[in-house]
Amino acid sequence: MFKIIIKDNYDEVSFEAFKVMQETLTSKTNPVLGLATGSTPVGLYKNMIQDHKAQGTSYKNVLTWNLDEYIGIPRSHEQSYYTFMHENLFDHIDIPEENVHVPLGETDDVAKSCVDYEKSMEGHTVDLQVLGIGSDGHIAFNEPGTPFDSLTHVMDLTEQTRQDNARFFDGDIDQVPTCAITMGLGTIMRSKKIVVIATGANKADAVHGMLKGELTTDCPASILQKHDDVVVILDKEAASKL
Ligand code: GLP
Repeated sequence: MFKIIIKDNYDEVSFEAFKVMQETLTSKTNPVLGLATGSTPVGLYKNMIQDHKAQGTSYKNVLTWNLDEYIGIPRSHEQSYYTFMHENLFDHIDIPEENVHVPLGETDDVAKSCVDYEKSMEGHTVDLQVLGIGSDGHIAFNEPGTPFDSLTHVMDLTEQTRQDNARFFDGDIDQVPTCAITMGLGTIMRSKKIVVIATGANKADAVHGMLKGELTTDCPASILQKHDDVVVILDKEAASKL
């Protein structure tokens, strides 16, 4: 079931997402968060940092699992999702390092890394999963064609995704890794609540596919139609095809 909220601009979208986050943080003693990368959630993370500094909201009892990580660049790389999360959130709040989980893409045994990641989540249920959406309808790095019941797995990235993400790699698609380790769609669907954030006209088709399109692996985000608690926060451009 979707609750759709349409706001005027990115800042308002980010603040609305923060309100959903705040509800989870204040209503649970040990909140479990699923976190996303990409440019979209940065505004949400800025709100969380500001609130932590101004109101003292603590993350000492919070556990986090991130959605995905590139394969082929080290964690220390400036564009790794591990680095991204530290720079944009973890380094600015009081979350203990042992409470944060980011899939390990820097490994000789990526199959083991996938199994280990699923195991690390055993006994925990994500209270709130933050999601962005790719212009091809992917969530996390689950590209079109990914089975709905998939668990953490390795994914070859589509040309479109690599093109979209080239802006983080000096605009050079050749520098963008060709594959990634990602939570599966089945993994994501276990979350109790999901908040999807999308802004900009280049997300309009994907947003339409997620909310109004047919339930198909061609649009991985359409699986969210089967979840019973999804809040979708959009700006007018992302909502323009609804
Ligand atoms: C990447 C991430 C996704 C994210 C998507 C959209 O592919 N793996 O989790 O949702 O990009 O990113 P952006 O928010 O930068 O548009």
